Amino acid sequence: MATSPLSVEVHNPYGRFRVISTKPMPGSRWINILVDAGCRVEVCTEKKTILSVADIKELIGSKCDGVIGQLTEDWGDELFAALKAAGGHAFSNMAVGYNNVNVEAATRNGVAVGNTPGVLTETTAELAAALTLAAARRVVEADSFMRAGKYDGWLPTLFIGNLLKGQTVGIIGAGRIGSAYARMMVEGFKMNVVYYDLYQATRLEKFVTAYGKFLESQGESPVTWKRVSTVEDVLRLADVVSLHPVLDKTTYHLINKDRLALMKKTAIIVNASRGPIIDEVALVQHLQANPEFRAALDVFEDEPYMKPGLSDLPNAVVVPHIASASKWTREGMATLAAANVAGKLKGCPVWHDANNVMPFLDESSKPPAASPSIVNAKNLGLKILTAAKL
Ligand code: GLV
Repeated sequence: MATSPLSVEVHNPYGRFRVISTKPMPGSRWINILVDAGCRVEVCTEKKTILSVADIKELIGSKCDGVIGQLTEDWGDELFAALKAAGGHAFSNMAVGYNNVNVEAATRNGVAVGNTPGVLTETTAELAAALTLAAARRVVEADSFMRAGKYDGWLPTLFIGNLLKGQTVGIIGAGRIGSAYARMMVEGFKMNVVYYDLYQATRLEKFVTAYGKFLESQGESPVTWKRVSTVEDVLRLADVVSLHPVLDKTTYHLINKDRLALMKKTAIIVNASRGPIIDEVALVQHLQANPEFRAALDVFEDEPYMKPGLSDLPNAVVVPHIASASKWTREGMATLAAANVAGKLKGCPVWHDANNVMPFLDESSKPPAASPSIVNAKNLGLKILTAAKL
């Protein structure tokens, strides 16, 4: 077996399949799943945050059956060809998003591409809610002020922010995460919802209607929802706008200079999806010109970098892509990524419902004999479990 100059930690050295994880991942269940499937697991422990394509090729070497990779890595033709040449046919991103993966290239090379949906929803939505509150109530600015020893007494005008109750939260992309965030803002802060999505968010609409009726029955003002037909409508109407679309050619720089100009002067924009959804240079200029406008960002256009000027702005809250960083979610993502690879190597079918993956996460029972989510399963002709066969 080829040895790699990058440092690795080996589990189950005599396993028949060689599987690489490009990073150590939280928890141990993921390693157990791979070991139980007969894999030798090599975890790259190199002290380098982002591995290059060349690094990963070295790790793959001349014999490798499967890889678990990270969203910071460029999984294109070169890596999938290298994996195929090493005899591999299983890959999983440890992420729900896979804009770093060229799925067509993987399919061409006969490699299955897994992702990890169904385990990030609430955790990501909670971070978007935390960012919203931090921006609305200027928590980060106030924290820095305290630490700098500047607080010399209560003042009626100190760090005045925005009240969320009764305001409108705008959702762009009302899928699982966008809808979960909207529910939190409705239920927690009694905000009204305006949303834009190609698909109707029926469950969200029903929830807001029912909650509105409940509030009315208690003698309180109801909450409302409205589905609009353009992104611009959301931007004009909302006091807080949270972005939850997938990143593709149609959503690159969805929020640009002209669209920012449509927003209220005191609005807040939240991004916990992908950085390039916002033209970050335009956002910096907008924040500079509109000190009452706020942005709260988990993701950046050129991660790990920020565009010049962003870090100097008091009206921006910035955190390092941690939306999915709860213990439960990160351990769950690792488990799903391992189950994707193990399932493919063992020749198991693909799970029938990628959004309902709880059976893989329940530690008290054996995970189902399936790969939880393979995005190119159909194109590769992989067998998909039918609910009846469970
Ligand atoms: C995190 O950003 C993910 O897509 O899983």
